[in-house]
Amino acid sequence: MKNKILWSLLVISLSWVAIVPTARAGGDAEAGKRKFYTCIGCHGVPGYTNAYPTYHVPRLGGQHAAYVVAALKAYQADQRKHVTMHGNSVSLTEQDMEDIAAFVSKFRGINVNLPVTGNAVAGKQKAAACASCHGEDGNGEDANFPRLAGQYESYIIKALQDYKSGARNNPIMAGFASGLSEEDIKDIAAYYASQKKGLTLAED
Ligand code: HEC
Ligand code: HEC
Repeated sequence: MKNKILWSLLVISLSWVAIVPTARAGGDAEAGKRKFYTCIGCHGVPGYTNAYPTYHVPRLGGQHAAYVVAALKAYQADQRKHVTMHGNSVSLTEQDMEDIAAFVSKFRGINVNLPVTGNAVAGKQKAAACASCHGEDGNGEDANFPRLAGQYESYIIKALQDYKSGARNNPIMAGFASGLSEEDIKDIAAYYASQKKGLTLAED
């Protein structure tokens, strides 16, 4: 485990410059609201699930703007692989992304969470290693790291499995996910998903 952590730190220091998105001055939230119209069908619907495999479409309300822009760019460039999100981002300009990010990031609220299946108490302990970037309860204030608090449990599980398998390519998270068992992943996801102050749907 110690070696794994040291290795992760090495990977981080080598790759920091390339992967950490730069924080930027916000877009126009009013324009973003109009541009978000086509996204509501999936990201604005409580409990909406991706067709296959079945997991919840991630909550975006209250997510850091810089992270939202970075995610959209990664889908657009097909660097983060997802057919639907590639289709939804391919025609967005940089300004569109900034505006949409400004709109969704301003919704901070009380998470109305769904029941979780993992062990959230065990998950809290296991998530200690994640706090330096994501915040102790997943509500980190550093805009370069996505908020996890209030995110759907099934989406967090899917994201961690994808980092572990390499389906989602990020050197920092590959290092952290590689040391997690399936049970660890479920417990950590249950912990973050059940934090009250957290992500919401884009507009609730
Ligand atoms: C047909 C459903 C659907 C539509 C429409 C859609 N999305 Fe998505 N979106 C998804 C799914 C599913 C994912 C998770 C994909 C993955 O696993 O990487 C996702 C992921 C994202 C993410 C990454 C979230 C994270 O936490 O990493 C962002 C940002 C995003 N979508 C923004 C948008 C925007 C902006 C639009 C409209 C222009 C949009 N989406 C339209 C289904 C959709
Ligand atoms: C050194 C900083 C750092 C640490 C520590 C860290 N992460 Fe991350 N995490 C990131 C970054 C950067 C991203 C965004 C990567 C990307 O764009 O795919 C991320 C993304 C994620 C995501 C995807 C969120 C989304 O909305 O798609 C999850 C889930 C996650 N981390 C969970 C964890 C867990 C669990 C741990 C501890 C075991 C952890 N992270 C430790 C930096 C970190």
